[in-house]
Amino acid sequence: MDLFRPIYHFTPEKNWMNDPNGMVFFNGEYHLFYQHHPDGTTPGPMHWGHAVSADMVNWEHRPIALYPDENGVIFSGSAVVDWEDTTGFFGGKPGLVAIFTHHDKVPGTERVRERQSLAYSSDSGRSWVKYIGNPVLESDRFIDFRDPKVFWHPGTKRWVMILATGRSVCLYHSANLKEWTFGSEFGHNNGLNDGVWECPDLFPLPVDGDSAHTKWVMIVSVGGRAEHAEGSLTQYFIGDFDGQTFVNDNPAGTVLRLDYGSDNYAGVSWSDLPAEDGRRIYLAWMSNHHYCTVTPTDGWRSAMTVPRSLALASQSGSIRLIQKPVRELEILRTPILALEETSLREAHARLADLNLESFEMIAEFHSAEASDVVIKVRASDSQQTVIGYKSEHNEIYLDRTRSGLIGFQENFAVIHSVKLEEESELIKLHVFVDRSSVEVFVNDGIAVITDLIFPDTAATGLGLYDSKDGGAKLRRLELYQLS
Ligand code: FRU
Repeated sequence: MDLFRPIYHFTPEKNWMNDPNGMVFFNGEYHLFYQHHPDGTTPGPMHWGHAVSADMVNWEHRPIALYPDENGVIFSGSAVVDWEDTTGFFGGKPGLVAIFTHHDKVPGTERVRERQSLAYSSDSGRSWVKYIGNPVLESDRFIDFRDPKVFWHPGTKRWVMILATGRSVCLYHSANLKEWTFGSEFGHNNGLNDGVWECPDLFPLPVDGDSAHTKWVMIVSVGGRAEHAEGSLTQYFIGDFDGQTFVNDNPAGTVLRLDYGSDNYAGVSWSDLPAEDGRRIYLAWMSNHHYCTVTPTDGWRSAMTVPRSLALASQSGSIRLIQKPVRELEILRTPILALEETSLREAHARLADLNLESFEMIAEFHSAEASDVVIKVRASDSQQTVIGYKSEHNEIYLDRTRSGLIGFQENFAVIHSVKLEEESELIKLHVFVDRSSVEVFVNDGIAVITDLIFPDTAATGLGLYDSKDGGAKLRRLELYQLS
């Protein structure tokens, strides 16, 4: 039985998956590697699973790329195109280099050891050779020392690595990916610091599309928060980076959340997208360390979010990260409904007879007349997932307390909400529903809520309600089946 297997979100063919790894674009292909335990549906000795795609939507599963070896199991990391053959691995041609964490124990002890290593591929990721000089970076200071994300820094003409180091990140640089020099450390009292930092990323983006005004975004996942009801989550920082040191624009205490749901973790961005594409595309593991090992799926476990294009937007004098589902997802669409300037009551009547399990909805309503608006998805007599707007608090929420199977972990049946920082005349909700997830992009991606749900296959109803007897005004409603 595979009732929760998503229609259009990436999942492993079988067994366990967590973080996306080694995301790189090369020779017309998007590569997605991932943390994988091929012998069970819970974590075990980690490998890098592999898939390739021409569009980030249709994926082809490939054989396992990296197996554990004498240096340990293979934890998270990144991959780059070594265009100039700085490593000397490729006889002057471009090739792929994976930079990952080897995780093991100091021989003869129970002490965990994490060290960074390389593997390279001369055949577009089909086969990989581990570098004979592994590991290339170790530490006698940090026990948590993992998840290298590497990129080329044009300003200093060298490679930069951002690495998770406990409750901080460290930045290193290198001319050849083999020898690394420490640059700086960032973290501790910055942002959310009540759990171990994992899977960082660092990249520049233009502000409001202005290439003359660029800021650096640092993404940091925060795990190990067993005592917090919400579990693991992802934060980001905005600042400047000179190739060595990151300077946070905001006061150290500012916490910026990348997602207000429970199920967006360990996300990073693709390397080496062509300059003419110009996008920075992000993908994350759609689960939470709180309950990832007990979700009610059969024979496989965990999915990725939809790929999201990232941008920076100024809002009330502050800069915020915005996320949009990539346009490639439109190839999945079958149009079901398109309405303009109508009442919620009218729109609800059009939805009443529909049954959809995997779909995309774009709903825009006039906030002035809106009062409280509620969208129900994956609904039946006994189940529903509710996406709502509370006008008094200018707040969007996602309620999965009656979404289906909820009892597998005590913190699963919750309501997630985000208070919008700015008032706006229109409230826009762009919603992606699949067999076991809901992703809500609010007001062009200024806030996102990503949550898993496990509804009955029969819970496919839809509804629109408000606190004005259906009198609230919809600017637009579009509905697409996704297959
Ligand atoms: C994040 C993480 C990483 C680590 C990997 C191990 O989910 O804990 O820090 O490299 O998973 O699977």
